[in-house]
Amino acid sequence: MLPAVKDYRELARRRLARFAFDYLEGGAEDGRTLARNVEAWQAVLFRPRALQDVAQVDTGVELFGRRQALPMLVGPTGLNGLYWPRAEEALARAARDAGVPFVLSTASTSLLEDVRAASEGELWLQLYVQRERRIAEDMMARARAANFHALMLTVDTMVHGKRDHDVRNGFRMPVPWTPRLMADLARHPRWCLRMLRQGGSPQLVNLARSSGLSPDLRKQAAAMSRQMDMSLNWGDLAWVRRHWAGPVIVKGILSAEDARTARDHGADGIVVSNHGGRQLEGAPSSLERLPEIVDVAGDRMHVFIDGGVRRGSDIAKALALGAKAVLLGRAPLYGLAARGPQGAAEVLEILRSEFETTLRLLGVTAASRLDASSLCEDHRQRLRAL
Ligand code: GLV
Repeated sequence: MLPAVKDYRELARRRLARFAFDYLEGGAEDGRTLARNVEAWQAVLFRPRALQDVAQVDTGVELFGRRQALPMLVGPTGLNGLYWPRAEEALARAARDAGVPFVLSTASTSLLEDVRAASEGELWLQLYVQRERRIAEDMMARARAANFHALMLTVDTMVHGKRDHDVRNGFRMPVPWTPRLMADLARHPRWCLRMLRQGGSPQLVNLARSSGLSPDLRKQAAAMSRQMDMSLNWGDLAWVRRHWAGPVIVKGILSAEDARTARDHGADGIVVSNHGGRQLEGAPSSLERLPEIVDVAGDRMHVFIDGGVRRGSDIAKALALGAKAVLLGRAPLYGLAARGPQGAAEVLEILRSEFETTLRLLGVTAASRLDASSLCEDHRQRLRAL
């Protein structure tokens, strides 16, 4: 096992083809929101308490009435097959072994049925809604049949954010075999071999099945981006409800007003998120918006957060500020890209162990007892000053 998540990032950077690493790592435009996500965690300082008898600490939390071993989820990310064959199956197993849910993306490169077959652990579905509503309806029906628990509706991706690195690398779906790309591939023969063994470029098979399309990347990419339903609005939460009996979580909230509206429309949870800095450049970090959003949510909704979580201490800060749990995007992908399924499991273990250590050093005996008393009194000002 390597010492920290950042070591897996460095290994992933060396092992992946350049265009694939840039897709994983990059943010929108100049990457300022992306950088802000990571920096925001540094602005919050702890206020540890001494001699609290931390011989036993409980890292678990309850999410929608179900006990989880840790306040984290492996969050939804698309095109994971670029990093390792059968990536989503591996992530689902790593999450199960860590005792936490795995959220499968609409843009997954494995079928949700195959992910269910690979793991009996808790699975949630992330949903993008295409103009043809029957596609999302079919996806929800399939996920229900496969015993997925919760549904996460992403609301910050009406259009794809502008990612300069993808343009620079000439990366799009399907992968165009330009000389520049061929040179990139030639520098990463082991990665190429792995891709070839899985039958070439990964496919958006999940979306293709619900769209009734053949697994042809050109058509899938069109279905994904050009067909996104940009007229989606708050009234459509009722439509989601009609098709989903379990918890419904709205992902991509950055304002107290939207948190209030989500609550008033009966959302069971929200994710405070700027999509890993990949969508709207100039958006604030998710952490700096967390306190006022938690104030609005009260006890009526679970509040989750994502963006820049690289340490167990970040998880403790999120909980101390009122989040119920964090979503991990890039961190487990670094592990997967660096060392395959074992690497994903190692990253989750690092975060578990760091979180447990942080609880002990804070003098807090349970994740559920973390609150603002574990933070320096001026944490709100510090976040506002960012
Ligand atoms: C997809 O959701 C992405 O951020 O690339």
